Amino acid sequence: MVTSREIRLKSRPVGMPSAENFELATVTVPAPAPGEVQVKNIWMTVDPYMRGRMVDRASYVPPFQLGEPLQGGAIGEVVASNDSRLKPGDLVSTMFGWRESFNAPASTLQKLDTFGLPPQAFLGVAGMPGLTAWVGLLKIAALKPGDVVFVSAAAGAVGSVVCQIAKIKGHTVIGSAGGADKGAFLKQIGVDHVIDYKATGNLTEALLRAAPNGLDVYFDNVGGEHLEAALTAANRFARFALCGMISQYNVARMPAGPRNIMFAVGKSIRLEGFIVSNHFNLLPEFQKDMSEWIREGKLTRKETVEHGIENAPTAFLKLFKGENLGKMLVKLV
Ligand SMILES: NC(=O)c1ccc[n+]([C@@H]2O[C@H](COP(=O)([O-])OP(=O)(O)OC[C@H]3O[C@@H](n4cnc5c(N)ncnc54)[C@H](OP(=O)(O)O)[C@@H]3O)[C@@H](O)[C@H]2O)c1
Repeated sequence: MVTSREIRLKSRPVGMPSAENFELATVTVPAPAPGEVQVKNIWMTVDPYMRGRMVDRASYVPPFQLGEPLQGGAIGEVVASNDSRLKPGDLVSTMFGWRESFNAPASTLQKLDTFGLPPQAFLGVAGMPGLTAWVGLLKIAALKPGDVVFVSAAAGAVGSVVCQIAKIKGHTVIGSAGGADKGAFLKQIGVDHVIDYKATGNLTEALLRAAPNGLDVYFDNVGGEHLEAALTAANRFARFALCGMISQYNVARMPAGPRNIMFAVGKSIRLEGFIVSNHFNLLPEFQKDMSEWIREGKLTRKETVEHGIENAPTAFLKLFKGENLGKMLVKLV
C-alpha cells in the first residue's frame, strides 16, 4: 500500500481558471491485483485542451467530473507488477496524469521504448504535440514548395515544432509569440520573422510587413485577432490548419468573428480544423521523420518544467498567461 497525491477538479471554471478550481487530495493505492501493475508517474503534461474538458458539455473527449482526479498524458515507471507483460523498471506512457501513483491492468498499458530520448520528449516533440504539428502542417495545410508559413503561439509546444518542420523543409516562416524571450528563442530555431504580438500595436500591419508577398499557410493555435490578421495577409488558395484557438478558451460568451471571414471566399482559402487523435494512424510515419530530425540535430526540444504534483495547477494556469517556452511539463519525482 502506498499513498498518492492527486489533483481533482473542485469547481468548473467560468472565464479564466484559477487555483480555486483545483484541489489536492491524498489517496492510498493498494498492492496491484492479479493482472495489474503499479505505476509511479515521473512526468505529466498540462495542455490547453484540458480547459475544454473542464466544461460540462459533450465534445470529442468527455468532460472531467467534479471531485474526480483529472486525466492527461503521463510517463511513469512500473514499480510493482502482477503480470508478465510488464516488469518493475519498465516505462509506460498513459493517460493517468495528475496523480503520483496508480494501478492499472497491464493489458491496457503500452511499454515505452524511448529510443535513447529523455522520456519526457514523448509528452512533447516526440509525442502528441509533435504529431499535432506534423499532421497540421504536412497533411492538413498540405505544405508545398515555396509556401510562406505563419504560425501563432509559435514558441509553444506545438508552434515551435511547426516552425522547425517548416524551416527543415526550407520555407520562410513568420512566428508570432508574446515577449522578447520567446522572440529570441524563435530566432534561435531559425524563424525568419518574429512578431511580438503583445508589443505590436496592430497585428495585421505587423504581419503584412513580415509577409510583403502574402502568406500561403497559416497554422492557427490562437484564433481571434491572429486569425483575422492571417485572413487579411493570406494569398489566394492559402490553406489554414485550424489547430486551436487558445485566445477564446476562457471567454464567457462566444465572440463574434472573425470579422473578415469573407476573405475566405474571394481568396479561395481552405480552412480546415483537425483533432490529432483522428490521425493516430500516422504515428509511424511521424515517428520516422521526427526520430531522423532529432538524431540529425535538426530539431530543438524546449521545455518549461514545474516540480511536484501540487504545482500541476500552476503549470496549467501558466499556459493561459504565456508563461511557458516550449512544452509545459510537471516533473513528479
Ligand atoms: N487540434 C489538436 O488536436 C490539438 C492538439 C494539441 C494542441 N492543440 C492546440 O494547439 C494550441 C497550442 O497548444 P500547445 O499545447 O502547444 O500550447 P502552448 O503553445 O505550449 O502554450 C499555450 C500558449 O498559447 C499562448 N496564448 C495563451 N493565451 C493566449 C491569448 N489569449 N492570445 C494569444 N496567445 C495566447 C501563450 O503563448 P504567448 O506567450 O505567445 O501568448 C502560451 O504559451 C492550443 O490552441 C491547443 O488547444 C490542438
